[in-house]
Amino acid sequence: MVTPEKQMIRILAIETSCDETAAAVVENGTRMLSNVIASQTDLHAKYGGVFPEVASRKHVELIYAVIRQAMQQAHIGYDDLDAIAVTKGPGLVGSLLVGVNAAKGLALARRKPLIGVNHIEGHIYSLWLTEAAAEIEFPLLTLVVSGGHTELYLMRDHGVYEHLGGTLDDAAGEAFDKVGRLLGLPYPGGPAIDKAATQGNAQAYRFPRAVMQSEHGYNFSFSGLKTAVLRQTKKFESNRLPVNDLAASFQAAVVESLVSKTVQAAQEHGVTAVHLAGGVSANRALRQAMSQQIDLPVRYPPPVLCTDNAAMIGAAAYWAFKNGRFDTLNLDVTPSLRLI
Ligand code: KG4
Ligand code: ZN
Repeated sequence: MVTPEKQMIRILAIETSCDETAAAVVENGTRMLSNVIASQTDLHAKYGGVFPEVASRKHVELIYAVIRQAMQQAHIGYDDLDAIAVTKGPGLVGSLLVGVNAAKGLALARRKPLIGVNHIEGHIYSLWLTEAAAEIEFPLLTLVVSGGHTELYLMRDHGVYEHLGGTLDDAAGEAFDKVGRLLGLPYPGGPAIDKAATQGNAQAYRFPRAVMQSEHGYNFSFSGLKTAVLRQTKKFESNRLPVNDLAASFQAAVVESLVSKTVQAAQEHGVTAVHLAGGVSANRALRQAMSQQIDLPVRYPPPVLCTDNAAMIGAAAYWAFKNGRFDTLNLDVTPSLRLI
């Protein structure tokens, strides 16, 4: 007798690569049964950035409560799970270890398959958790813009990527965070600049649009822009900084760099749609400019799925599950893991 293929695949996913302790239960890679995120942002704000040692200790403190909550909110038991997924990299080594060890412990105790997921692939799969999931067709272009990455990928099928370009220095989110600090805005700088920019004039200062020349292919660079903002701030007394205008002008430069490269890549590769993912894809000016300047569907996740979460790890793990890509209990963390 042929056993019908199991209809519901439920995966418990864990994400602890940076400063969010997160767990989620995802069904068939598209439906979130729960998505619990304990953010440590307030804890790190006083350091102006993520303090790795503090982050890993906090993950240890929170991880089991967060997992328990994710299971409770999903209204299922461990017997209903088909696999345990966890971010294996890239990220902070101490933080990653907490998630991977928790996942290994659960996989062993509950006799479930273990799936290690690349954090960047997780961000890419956050789009499958949106209402647009059923409309997604390949090939598509995905711009991953986060605190650690600015990468442009051509995605030809599930799990099949071509890396078209990436940042040569700072990631987009890193630039937002550093400029936020220069402007005296609270950490993280991205959301604070997004907000301040709505009250500012984006044409007040003409900052460099980094690496627009075609010889750089689809690569990005933001460190020169950050230096230009620093130079501009030095012209004012610190309590008289035109914060909103500087924020709006800086943001416009980042957005223009990201949009122009994405437009070129979309044209060259004849894609069906453009996807934005990662923390910076929550940026309103970026979403708006991308949608206006690209004559294709431009999709991005809701803000809660832009920044780090475990549901996206569960969505990516589903495709690994379908393809029989499992890990053993020897799974290790890889802090500088690449997607390809
Ligand atoms: O994806 P994510 O949560 O973590 C990493 O994988 O790095 O991204 C965090 C980054 C931070 O740099 C934060 O400043 C930025 O995303 N970010 C934003 C916005 N919301 C978060 N940047 C610009 N505008 C936003 N609205
Ligand atoms: Zn991330």
